[in-house]
Amino acid sequence: MSWERLLAEARSGSKLKASPDHGERHWRAVAATGLELARRDDRADAGICVAFAVLHDCRRVSEYRDPQHGPSAARVARASASLRALLGEERAGIVATACNDHEGTIHCREWPLVGACFDADRFTLGRVGIDPDPRYFSLILDDSAFSEMVRFAEGASDAPPKWADLFAQVASG
Ligand SMILES: [Fe+2]
Ligand SMILES: [Fe+2]
Repeated sequence: MSWERLLAEARSGSKLKASPDHGERHWRAVAATGLELARRDDRADAGICVAFAVLHDCRRVSEYRDPQHGPSAARVARASASLRALLGEERAGIVATACNDHEGTIHCREWPLVGACFDADRFTLGRVGIDPDPRYFSLILDDSAFSEMVRFAEGASDAPPKWADLFAQVASG
């Protein structure tokens, strides 16, 4: 199935896939958080969020400053026939844009399909000891909804769902 192929592309060449902070546990937590965002907000797209989660950190080479990892992930997205098969040309292009810009951008409120991807990643910052700050978020800014999402992402980081469950949720969404 294409999601499994996309995941295989992310894994191959990933130097940090076993890292708790930036490896697959984190990718799965971002996917779960993106799915929750898409359930709460119609402006988010579940498939785009999950594809972003799979790819966004797959070419990180350092746990610390690594400014090229977004553009590197975007190149994987643009080259991926599985991603286009899953989402179509246009949505695949949005995943590539979100990967490219996910680190250096303050937020993306004018393009919520991209902003939702950034938010899904940033809600999981508690895993590295950083409190998510609404100033850097795009979709979920309301105090109570924001706190709920922070708690959700903490749970997802502690016990990320299996890939098969995450991919099934996209298919049923
Ligand atoms: Fe990243
Ligand atoms: Fe990330």
